[in-house]
Amino acid sequence: MKKCLIAPSILSADHARLGEDTTKALDAGGDLIHVDVMDNHYVPNLTMGPLTVRDLRNYGITAPIDVHLMAQPVDRLIPDFAIAGASYITFHPEASKHIDRTLQLIQESDCKSGLALNPSTPIEILHYVMDKLDLILLMSVNPGFSGQSFIPGTLKKLDQVRNLIDRSGYNICLAVDGGIQIDNVCEIASTGTDMLVVGSTIFNQLDYKKVISSIRMEIEKSHKKPLH
Ligand code: DX5
Ligand code: ZN
Repeated sequence: MKKCLIAPSILSADHARLGEDTTKALDAGGDLIHVDVMDNHYVPNLTMGPLTVRDLRNYGITAPIDVHLMAQPVDRLIPDFAIAGASYITFHPEASKHIDRTLQLIQESDCKSGLALNPSTPIEILHYVMDKLDLILLMSVNPGFSGQSFIPGTLKKLDQVRNLIDRSGYNICLAVDGGIQIDNVCEIASTGTDMLVVGSTIFNQLDYKKVISSIRMEIEKSHKKPLH
């Protein structure tokens, strides 16, 4: 069984102590860091930019950094995030006029490329770009804020995209983002997702290690569950 990665989303971290809090989440068992970039345009919230990524690298964060762009347009931002030290750059198809070109731009910038699908975005958009994808991020909330509730229809969508990836033969990571809590991890992980993006469930607790261990235990349980 492939390991399911846990990506703490630092949107919910303490931004006055970002380096420290990010290190704490990684030391507690996080596999990579998820950075939510919001522009008050594509989504109604304003958060981090390339300087955040650069400064996290300068602070000493060596784990992969997954930049989730909820910004529009995206092409202008990609080289800046690549130079700053992003490992993955993921964008929403609605935010690019030429999705195929944007994916190429990310890969030419030496980053792994991802597409993020909103709860209402159909998966058909993936079909002709599977060869240019390293990651597919299914949004299980509408993008813009942490602390929202998981949208249950995402489970079926995860199953569908899992099948699509498996049939394609490409090595594409399937990630899910939003509303992940200890009590829904088992059901989500049983769809065969490769990465869980978790914000408030980790950062709203004092003991990150305890939360991440509980998430891992739920992932383990999902491996023992018969396939639905
Ligand atoms: C939402 C972001 C998420 C967010 C998840 O637009 O993309 O990454 O941080 O937060 P939680 O885990 O609190 O739903
Ligand atoms: Zn995100």
